[in-house]
Amino acid sequence: MVCRTRLISSKNFFSILTLHGILEQVINDRTFLNLIPVRPEGAIKNWLLSGKRDVVEERLKTIFLSYHGKRDELIPILQQVQEEFGYLPEQTMLEVARFTGVPESRVYAVTTFYTQFRFTPIGRNHVIVCRGTSCHVRGAPRILEEIEKQLGIKEGETTSDREYSLETVACIGACGLSPCIMINKKVKAKMTPKRVAELFKV
Ligand code: FES
Repeated sequence: MVCRTRLISSKNFFSILTLHGILEQVINDRTFLNLIPVRPEGAIKNWLLSGKRDVVEERLKTIFLSYHGKRDELIPILQQVQEEFGYLPEQTMLEVARFTGVPESRVYAVTTFYTQFRFTPIGRNHVIVCRGTSCHVRGAPRILEEIEKQLGIKEGETTSDREYSLETVACIGACGLSPCIMINKKVKAKMTPKRVAELFKV
Protein backbone atom coordinates (compact mmCIF):
# COMPACT_ATOMS: atom_id res chain seq x y z
CA MET A 1 0.00 0.00 0.00
CA VAL A 2 2.86 2.32 0.90
CA CYS A 3 4.53 1.51 -2.39
CA ARG A 4 1.40 2.28 -4.44
CA THR A 5 0.92 5.63 -2.70
CA ARG A 6 4.46 6.61 -3.55
CA LEU A 7 3.97 5.53 -7.15
CA ILE A 8 0.86 7.64 -7.55
CA SER A 9 2.61 10.67 -6.14
CA SER A 10 5.37 10.14 -8.71
CA LYS A 11 2.94 9.89 -11.62
CA ASN A 12 2.88 13.57 -12.53
CA PHE A 13 6.63 13.48 -12.98
CA PHE A 14 6.47 10.37 -15.17
CA SER A 15 3.52 11.77 -17.16
CA ILE A 16 5.62 14.77 -18.13
CA LEU A 17 8.42 12.46 -19.28
CA THR A 18 5.96 10.42 -21.32
CA LEU A 19 4.55 13.53 -22.96
CA HIS A 20 7.96 14.50 -24.18
CA GLY A 21 8.64 10.99 -25.55
CA ILE A 22 11.50 10.59 -23.11
CA LEU A 23 10.12 7.77 -21.02
CA GLU A 24 10.14 5.10 -23.73
CA GLN A 25 13.72 5.99 -24.67
CA VAL A 26 15.13 5.68 -21.18
CA ILE A 27 12.96 2.86 -19.77
CA ASN A 28 15.85 0.43 -20.12
CA ASP A 29 18.36 2.69 -18.47
CA ARG A 30 19.27 1.32 -15.04
CA THR A 31 19.56 4.81 -13.55
CA PHE A 32 16.04 5.63 -14.63
CA LEU A 33 14.62 2.32 -13.45
CA ASN A 34 16.16 2.99 -10.06
CA LEU A 35 13.93 6.06 -9.79
CA ILE A 36 10.81 3.89 -9.70
CA PRO A 37 9.91 2.88 -6.14
CA VAL A 38 10.17 -0.85 -5.55
CA ARG A 39 9.13 -3.48 -3.03
CA PRO A 40 11.74 -5.49 -1.12
CA GLU A 41 12.90 -8.52 -3.16
CA GLY A 42 11.53 -11.06 -0.65
CA ALA A 43 8.06 -9.54 -0.81
CA ILE A 44 8.19 -9.60 -4.58
CA LYS A 45 9.02 -13.31 -4.64
CA ASN A 46 6.09 -14.21 -2.38
CA TRP A 47 3.84 -12.03 -4.46
CA LEU A 48 4.97 -13.63 -7.70
CA LEU A 49 5.10 -17.28 -6.77
CA SER A 50 1.47 -17.95 -5.89
CA GLY A 51 0.37 -18.74 -9.50
CA LYS A 52 -0.24 -22.13 -11.13
CA ARG A 53 3.28 -22.70 -12.41
CA ASP A 54 2.95 -25.64 -14.79
CA VAL A 55 -0.08 -24.31 -16.69
CA VAL A 56 1.39 -20.86 -17.07
CA GLU A 57 4.84 -22.01 -18.15
CA GLU A 58 3.60 -23.82 -21.25
CA ARG A 59 1.76 -20.77 -22.53
CA LEU A 60 4.71 -18.51 -21.76
CA LYS A 61 7.13 -20.74 -23.67
CA THR A 62 5.19 -20.11 -26.87
CA ILE A 63 5.29 -16.35 -26.31
CA PHE A 64 9.03 -16.35 -25.53
CA LEU A 65 9.77 -18.11 -28.84
CA SER A 66 9.18 -14.78 -30.60
CA TYR A 67 11.74 -12.88 -28.49
CA HIS A 68 15.45 -12.91 -27.71
CA GLY A 69 15.24 -12.31 -23.96
CA LYS A 70 16.59 -8.74 -24.02
CA ARG A 71 15.80 -6.02 -21.51
CA ASP A 72 14.26 -3.74 -24.11
CA GLU A 73 11.71 -6.44 -24.94
CA LEU A 74 10.18 -6.18 -21.46
CA ILE A 75 7.13 -4.09 -22.30
CA PRO A 76 6.22 -5.85 -25.59
CA ILE A 77 6.50 -9.22 -23.83
CA LEU A 78 4.34 -8.07 -20.93
CA GLN A 79 1.78 -6.75 -23.41
CA GLN A 80 1.69 -10.10 -25.20
CA VAL A 81 1.43 -12.00 -21.92
CA GLN A 82 -1.53 -9.85 -20.95
CA GLU A 83 -3.09 -10.41 -24.36
CA GLU A 84 -2.71 -14.19 -23.82
CA PHE A 85 -3.98 -14.36 -20.23
CA GLY A 86 -6.28 -11.32 -20.15
CA TYR A 87 -4.18 -9.96 -17.27
CA LEU A 88 -0.75 -10.52 -15.74
CA PRO A 89 -0.88 -13.55 -13.45
CA GLU A 90 1.68 -13.25 -10.70
CA GLN A 91 3.92 -16.04 -11.91
CA THR A 92 4.19 -14.63 -15.41
CA MET A 93 6.04 -11.57 -14.18
CA LEU A 94 8.61 -13.74 -12.45
CA GLU A 95 9.12 -15.75 -15.64
CA VAL A 96 9.36 -12.60 -17.75
CA ALA A 97 11.93 -11.23 -15.31
CA ARG A 98 14.02 -14.39 -15.68
CA PHE A 99 13.72 -14.42 -19.45
CA THR A 100 14.67 -10.76 -19.97
CA GLY A 101 17.19 -10.52 -17.16
CA VAL A 102 15.31 -7.58 -15.68
CA PRO A 103 15.15 -7.76 -11.84
CA GLU A 104 11.77 -8.89 -10.50
CA SER A 105 11.39 -5.69 -8.51
CA ARG A 106 11.83 -3.67 -11.70
CA VAL A 107 9.24 -5.74 -13.55
CA TYR A 108 6.84 -5.03 -10.71
CA ALA A 109 7.69 -1.32 -10.82
CA VAL A 110 7.14 -1.06 -14.57
CA THR A 111 3.85 -3.00 -14.54
CA THR A 112 2.41 -0.90 -11.72
CA PHE A 113 3.54 2.31 -13.40
CA TYR A 114 1.69 1.71 -16.68
CA THR A 115 -2.08 1.74 -16.31
CA GLN A 116 -2.44 -0.59 -19.33
CA PHE A 117 -1.38 -3.57 -17.19
CA ARG A 118 -3.94 -5.48 -15.11
CA PHE A 119 -3.32 -7.79 -12.15
CA THR A 120 -6.76 -9.35 -11.88
CA PRO A 121 -8.79 -11.19 -14.54
CA ILE A 122 -11.32 -9.16 -16.48
CA GLY A 123 -14.99 -10.11 -16.44
CA ARG A 124 -16.66 -12.33 -19.05
CA ASN A 125 -17.91 -9.16 -20.75
CA HIS A 126 -15.31 -6.48 -21.28
CA VAL A 127 -16.95 -3.07 -21.62
CA ILE A 128 -14.83 -0.18 -22.89
CA VAL A 129 -16.13 3.38 -23.02
CA CYS A 130 -14.43 5.86 -25.33
CA ARG A 131 -13.49 9.14 -23.68
CA GLY A 132 -11.88 10.70 -26.79
CA THR A 133 -12.70 14.23 -27.88
CA SER A 134 -15.27 13.25 -30.48
CA CYS A 135 -17.12 10.95 -28.09
CA HIS A 136 -16.71 13.36 -25.18
CA VAL A 137 -18.43 16.26 -26.94
CA ARG A 138 -21.26 13.94 -27.97
CA GLY A 139 -22.01 12.75 -24.46
CA ALA A 140 -19.46 10.10 -23.42
CA PRO A 141 -19.49 11.25 -19.77
CA ARG A 142 -23.25 10.58 -19.56
CA ILE A 143 -22.79 7.21 -21.26
CA LEU A 144 -20.13 6.21 -18.74
CA GLU A 145 -22.29 7.42 -15.86
CA GLU A 146 -25.23 5.35 -17.07
CA ILE A 147 -23.13 2.20 -17.53
CA GLU A 148 -21.68 2.62 -14.03
CA LYS A 149 -25.21 2.98 -12.72
CA GLN A 150 -26.51 -0.06 -14.59
CA LEU A 151 -23.59 -2.32 -13.63
CA GLY A 152 -23.10 -0.96 -10.12
CA ILE A 153 -19.34 -0.56 -10.62
CA LYS A 154 -16.96 2.27 -11.39
CA GLU A 155 -14.46 2.58 -14.22
CA GLY A 156 -11.60 0.13 -13.70
CA GLU A 157 -13.73 -2.29 -11.68
CA THR A 158 -15.22 -5.75 -12.25
CA THR A 159 -18.61 -6.88 -10.96
CA SER A 160 -18.45 -9.29 -8.03
CA ASP A 161 -19.87 -12.12 -10.20
CA ARG A 162 -17.08 -11.40 -12.76
CA GLU A 163 -19.71 -10.87 -15.44
CA TYR A 164 -18.58 -7.33 -16.44
CA SER A 165 -15.40 -5.28 -16.38
CA LEU A 166 -15.55 -1.59 -17.18
CA GLU A 167 -12.68 0.45 -18.62
CA THR A 168 -12.21 3.64 -20.62
CA VAL A 169 -9.82 4.44 -23.47
CA ALA A 170 -8.65 7.59 -25.22
CA CYS A 171 -10.11 6.56 -28.63
CA ILE A 172 -11.69 3.40 -29.96
CA GLY A 173 -10.88 4.41 -33.52
CA ALA A 174 -14.47 4.82 -34.68
CA CYS A 175 -14.86 8.57 -34.18
CA GLY A 176 -17.45 8.85 -36.97
CA LEU A 177 -19.75 6.64 -34.88
CA SER A 178 -19.37 8.59 -31.65
CA PRO A 179 -20.28 8.40 -28.92
CA CYS A 180 -19.35 4.75 -28.92
CA ILE A 181 -18.42 1.92 -26.62
CA MET A 182 -17.03 -1.57 -27.18
CA ILE A 183 -18.32 -4.76 -25.67
CA ASN A 184 -16.06 -7.77 -26.20
CA LYS A 185 -14.30 -5.97 -29.06
CA LYS A 186 -17.56 -5.16 -30.89
CA VAL A 187 -18.28 -1.46 -31.38
CA LYS A 188 -21.67 -0.13 -30.29
CA ALA A 189 -22.23 3.14 -32.14
CA LYS A 190 -24.10 6.34 -31.37
CA MET A 191 -24.86 5.43 -27.82
CA THR A 192 -27.32 7.28 -25.62
CA PRO A 193 -28.08 6.77 -21.93
CA LYS A 194 -31.39 5.20 -23.03
CA ARG A 195 -29.61 2.69 -25.26
CA VAL A 196 -27.21 1.88 -22.44
CA ALA A 197 -30.11 1.18 -20.11
CA GLU A 198 -31.67 -1.15 -22.71
CA LEU A 199 -28.35 -2.88 -23.37
CA PHE A 200 -27.56 -3.67 -19.75
CA LYS A 201 -31.11 -4.22 -18.53
CA VAL A 202 -31.21 -7.40 -16.43
S1 FES B 1 -13.07 9.68 -29.94
FE1 FES B 1 -14.34 8.02 -29.52
S2 FES B 1 -13.92 6.66 -31.14
FE2 FES B 1 -12.50 8.23 -31.41
